Amino acid sequence: MDPSYTRDFLWYKDAIIYETHVKAFLDTSGDGVGDFAGLIEKLDYLEDLGITCLWLLPFFPSPLRDDGYDVVDYTGVHPSYGTLKDFRRLVDEAHRRDIAVIIELVVNHTSDQHPWFQLARSAPAGSPERDFYVWSDSEAKYKGVRIIFTDTERSNWTWDPVAGAYYWHRFFSHQPDLNFDNPRVLDAILEVLRYWLEMGIDGFRLDAIPYLVERDGTSCENLPETHEVIRRIRADVERTYPGCMLLAEANQWPADVRPYFGDGDECHMAFHFPLMPRIFMALRREDVEPIQDIMQRTPAIPESCQWGLFLRNHDELTLEMVTDMERDYMVLAYAREPGTVLNVGIRRRLAPLVDNGRHRIELLNSLLFSFPGTPIIYYGDEIGMGDDVRRPDRDGVRTPMQWSSGVNAGFSRADPAALYSRPIDDPVYGYPAVNVQAQLRDPSSLLHWMRNMIRLRKQFRVFGRGSMEFLSAGNRKVLAYVRRWEEDTILCVANLSRHPQPAELDLSEFAGATPVEMLGYTPFRVIGRDPYVLTLGGYGFYWFELRQRG
Ligand code: GLC
Repeated sequence: MDPSYTRDFLWYKDAIIYETHVKAFLDTSGDGVGDFAGLIEKLDYLEDLGITCLWLLPFFPSPLRDDGYDVVDYTGVHPSYGTLKDFRRLVDEAHRRDIAVIIELVVNHTSDQHPWFQLARSAPAGSPERDFYVWSDSEAKYKGVRIIFTDTERSNWTWDPVAGAYYWHRFFSHQPDLNFDNPRVLDAILEVLRYWLEMGIDGFRLDAIPYLVERDGTSCENLPETHEVIRRIRADVERTYPGCMLLAEANQWPADVRPYFGDGDECHMAFHFPLMPRIFMALRREDVEPIQDIMQRTPAIPESCQWGLFLRNHDELTLEMVTDMERDYMVLAYAREPGTVLNVGIRRRLAPLVDNGRHRIELLNSLLFSFPGTPIIYYGDEIGMGDDVRRPDRDGVRTPMQWSSGVNAGFSRADPAALYSRPIDDPVYGYPAVNVQAQLRDPSSLLHWMRNMIRLRKQFRVFGRGSMEFLSAGNRKVLAYVRRWEEDTILCVANLSRHPQPAELDLSEFAGATPVEMLGYTPFRVIGRDPYVLTLGGYGFYWFELRQRG
């Protein structure tokens, strides 16, 4: 760890996070799998894009039956990706560019190949070793608890012939859940945490955090005992590495996510899961209601906390946090192609979700960058990469980064048959058409646009820290909101319709101020007492800085 490296404790509030998998970024060893050395080589690209935090998907030793979320050793790295030394070098090189690094803490479950599970299944019933996991003689225990991977699992229990008992798992049956009623489990996890923190990382995404503790007669989600575990984790971090950020993956309704911030004594950040599908819904319905409704139902959070905002990630676009009717609508609107629905969600990347519509991609990113929270970009979405719904599980959205139109998309020099995954090669989204090299050369590319937006966003702390109020635009297709923080006031107006739309805003409270359009630095008409009238092109948006006279 570089001792000269320091960070403001609230760094995550102004961050731009970039999510990627080591395996998918760049392969320098030529074995067909991306590696740490490749990621290091591409840090200049990420710095140039403007991101300030790298979120790495799991890179630990693993049989890779759940892309690394099935961990067999929490303190190593998968040999395909390099060595611990390479990882350390990545952290140092990222820090040199002022890029923070956050990694996964897969806290709820391990692989069934993990030595803890192997020990547990043969240890005597009731022993502390056996009790590392959750066992039962019958499948009736915790009856009624929902199944998450509905396409593959029929039960949350699986029979283990070695133990002669059932073990509990909320995800795949090869991922037994750890038992947090056993104090040794938390001790072991805290050791893992300290181990990585000593290497200088800046935070953890706490994977599948709602499911840590089980109790009969409950949904086994969000239990007070689970929050107690998280408070213990936070207290430990606070004591040893106070700048470390904890990001909760709690796919729950806003009211149930809120407790993951605690009184500022649990997680620093949590993903805003319910917002994401509603942005897509509002866009398709050309109606601001789903967005306004969910934002109004989003409770206030402690001062030091922050929402994590995202449009797409490495999983399916989950539809767990919507009503049945909304789910039907989303499937009809976005998943007509056979094979697109996976579990309770839609396995698509951003560009194909919006039919590769450049205006829609820009509009959605404008919301991502201007809503209250920290934006998270999924690798490849900055160039509009596509997906392939015919591949198993979520593999179709985890294909190699498209660097160039050369062999293997410039990702690897391996024999194409040796690649961990074929790059996307269809005529619209394939690497000959969509790649970084071409977009760097093309000043009108999506990549350039993203870079500019990130730059702009970083100049205004109000986006990461300010309040948000919605205004009526006198038109249900136009979303208008004001962001305020300290001296800064920003007005955002977004047209969710494909056609031009008028907006009439009551801005009398800002009378005398000049709205300066932030992309072109153009002053608009001074605000008066009358309704402020604007016209927006199809899927157009404005960001205005409201400048008071004098
Ligand atoms: C999290 C991950 C997902 C994984 C699951 C089970 O939800 O985001 O990719 O499959 O945990 O480990």
